[in-house]
Amino acid sequence: MSDPVDATTTPAWARLTELKASYEPDLRGAFAADPERATRFARTVADLYVDLSKNLVDDEILAALVDLAEQTGVPQRRDAMFAGEKINVTEGRSVLHVALRMPRDEHLEVDGRDVVADVHEVLDRVYAFSDKVRSGEWVGVTGKRIETVVNIGIGGSDLGPVMVYEALKPYVQAGLTCRFVSNIDPTDVYENTADLDPETTLFIVASKTFTTLETLTNARLARSWLLDGLRASGSVGEGDDAARDAVSKHFVAVSTALDKVAAFGIDPENAFGFWDWVGGRYSVDSAIGTSVCVAIGRENFADFLAGFHAVDVHFRDTPAAQNVPMLMGLLNVWYDGFFDSQSHVVLPYAQYLHRFAAYLQQLTMESNGKSVRWDGSPVTTDTGEVFWGEPGTNGQHAFYQLIHQGTRVIPADFITVATPAHPLKDGETDVQELYLANFFAQTAALAFGKTADEVRAEGTAEEIVPARVFSGNRPTSSIMAPSLTPSVVGQLIALYEHITFTQGVVWGIDSFDQWGVELGKQLAQQVTPAVGGDEAALAKQDGSTQALIRYYREHRA
Ligand code: F6P
Repeated sequence: MSDPVDATTTPAWARLTELKASYEPDLRGAFAADPERATRFARTVADLYVDLSKNLVDDEILAALVDLAEQTGVPQRRDAMFAGEKINVTEGRSVLHVALRMPRDEHLEVDGRDVVADVHEVLDRVYAFSDKVRSGEWVGVTGKRIETVVNIGIGGSDLGPVMVYEALKPYVQAGLTCRFVSNIDPTDVYENTADLDPETTLFIVASKTFTTLETLTNARLARSWLLDGLRASGSVGEGDDAARDAVSKHFVAVSTALDKVAAFGIDPENAFGFWDWVGGRYSVDSAIGTSVCVAIGRENFADFLAGFHAVDVHFRDTPAAQNVPMLMGLLNVWYDGFFDSQSHVVLPYAQYLHRFAAYLQQLTMESNGKSVRWDGSPVTTDTGEVFWGEPGTNGQHAFYQLIHQGTRVIPADFITVATPAHPLKDGETDVQELYLANFFAQTAALAFGKTADEVRAEGTAEEIVPARVFSGNRPTSSIMAPSLTPSVVGQLIALYEHITFTQGVVWGIDSFDQWGVELGKQLAQQVTPAVGGDEAALAKQDGSTQALIRYYREHRA
């Protein structure tokens, strides 16, 4: 595996430094001087129209960013990923989420196995299972059809499924509902089961490793809830056989560790596998998406996968200057490295995408929140900006103030669709038009601002003119699609996966490990006995931790 290139030593970085020194952001001037700017800086990928023209770049800067991608080896590493090379160096693994959405007739051999054939074998089982649940052929232990599917998982085994389920609500079969339990706070499992009927509830335990404390604890709580409920109503008898039978009708699992699934007591017949070359945060398009597949059906799920694949093909085959994910990743590097942007806001103007920013938090920050490169050397630039966001227009009435007038540059991605799922009218007014007017207005306000003279011209008293000035030159990228179809949702996810990849390679980061989550998990295991009252374990903790645990023990009702 080639060593990471130190981006800051490349001629392209030197050129960017030089260009930045003389660059005075002036989007008003740039648009006035170049009537073609909007078109020249627009790109398309699959169904997505992506307007990059309101970014703080000119042709020379964009060219230097493209050179940076070449000089840091982004195309080569992308090709290595698609070829199945073990680019997840610290875990010695291939990175092949792109294989999860390859069409059936493609082939990709890794360690002597055709992974595309393996993918489709599992996919066919997921499809067959989802057909049975949807048709009512799959029934619970008392013969009733399933009405609620509860996905138990966390991180990548939760955020992807819940985000996509919410995004594709209009495609969910009537009479079927999915819920998602992730947190080990017992409230989560309680609230999500309290009003359910065990006879019509199916649990999907989703965990890549099948060792995750939260998920296994919640799965055990769910199993007890199921058996207690069924026994209380006399639907199943006491004894292990009755319990096993009930569990087999109400529990399925998704994991790479099928031996652990069996040890948990879930019939391997009811388990769907995937592979260590799928990272948790890249797994919603594997069997981890089973809850989504049950909800929306195999045709829509296939359409979802096709959306990912269309963007994969674009990312794989398109030269950097036209390559949308690569350009967007490079723009992020530009803002992080040269504008000290410490965060990046994602603003979907589509209510169904209300979990998209939460999903992106894991995708981007677990991938690129790192201080060493894949050869162990320290990074030489800032990495891993904070991703955050909320749907517009809610955000407008909450935090846009900071984006418009704060001291930091916060690049923003605006995402919307032309056709709403529910074209409601307020009298004669098409509400989608009000919605999109806000989208368009916000990106214009951020880009072009309002000068002091314009504020004065409105008759504003001089002393409050400064407070009412908008500097403008606040960068945005606008992403539009015709409507929020399964394919478009797949396209959006793949777009951000490859943006994240591009940034990671420029920074020299292994975007596919997550060692930073381990220490807290280890310490939690050590602390647990102390929380439970073990004085010797308590004495081993630091002073602050001891005080916090004592507070808990004194106040626990
Ligand atoms: O702790 C972080 C993490 O490992 C994520 O990377 C992963 O998505 C999540 O936990 C859940 O892991 P699993 O699917 O193995 O339960």
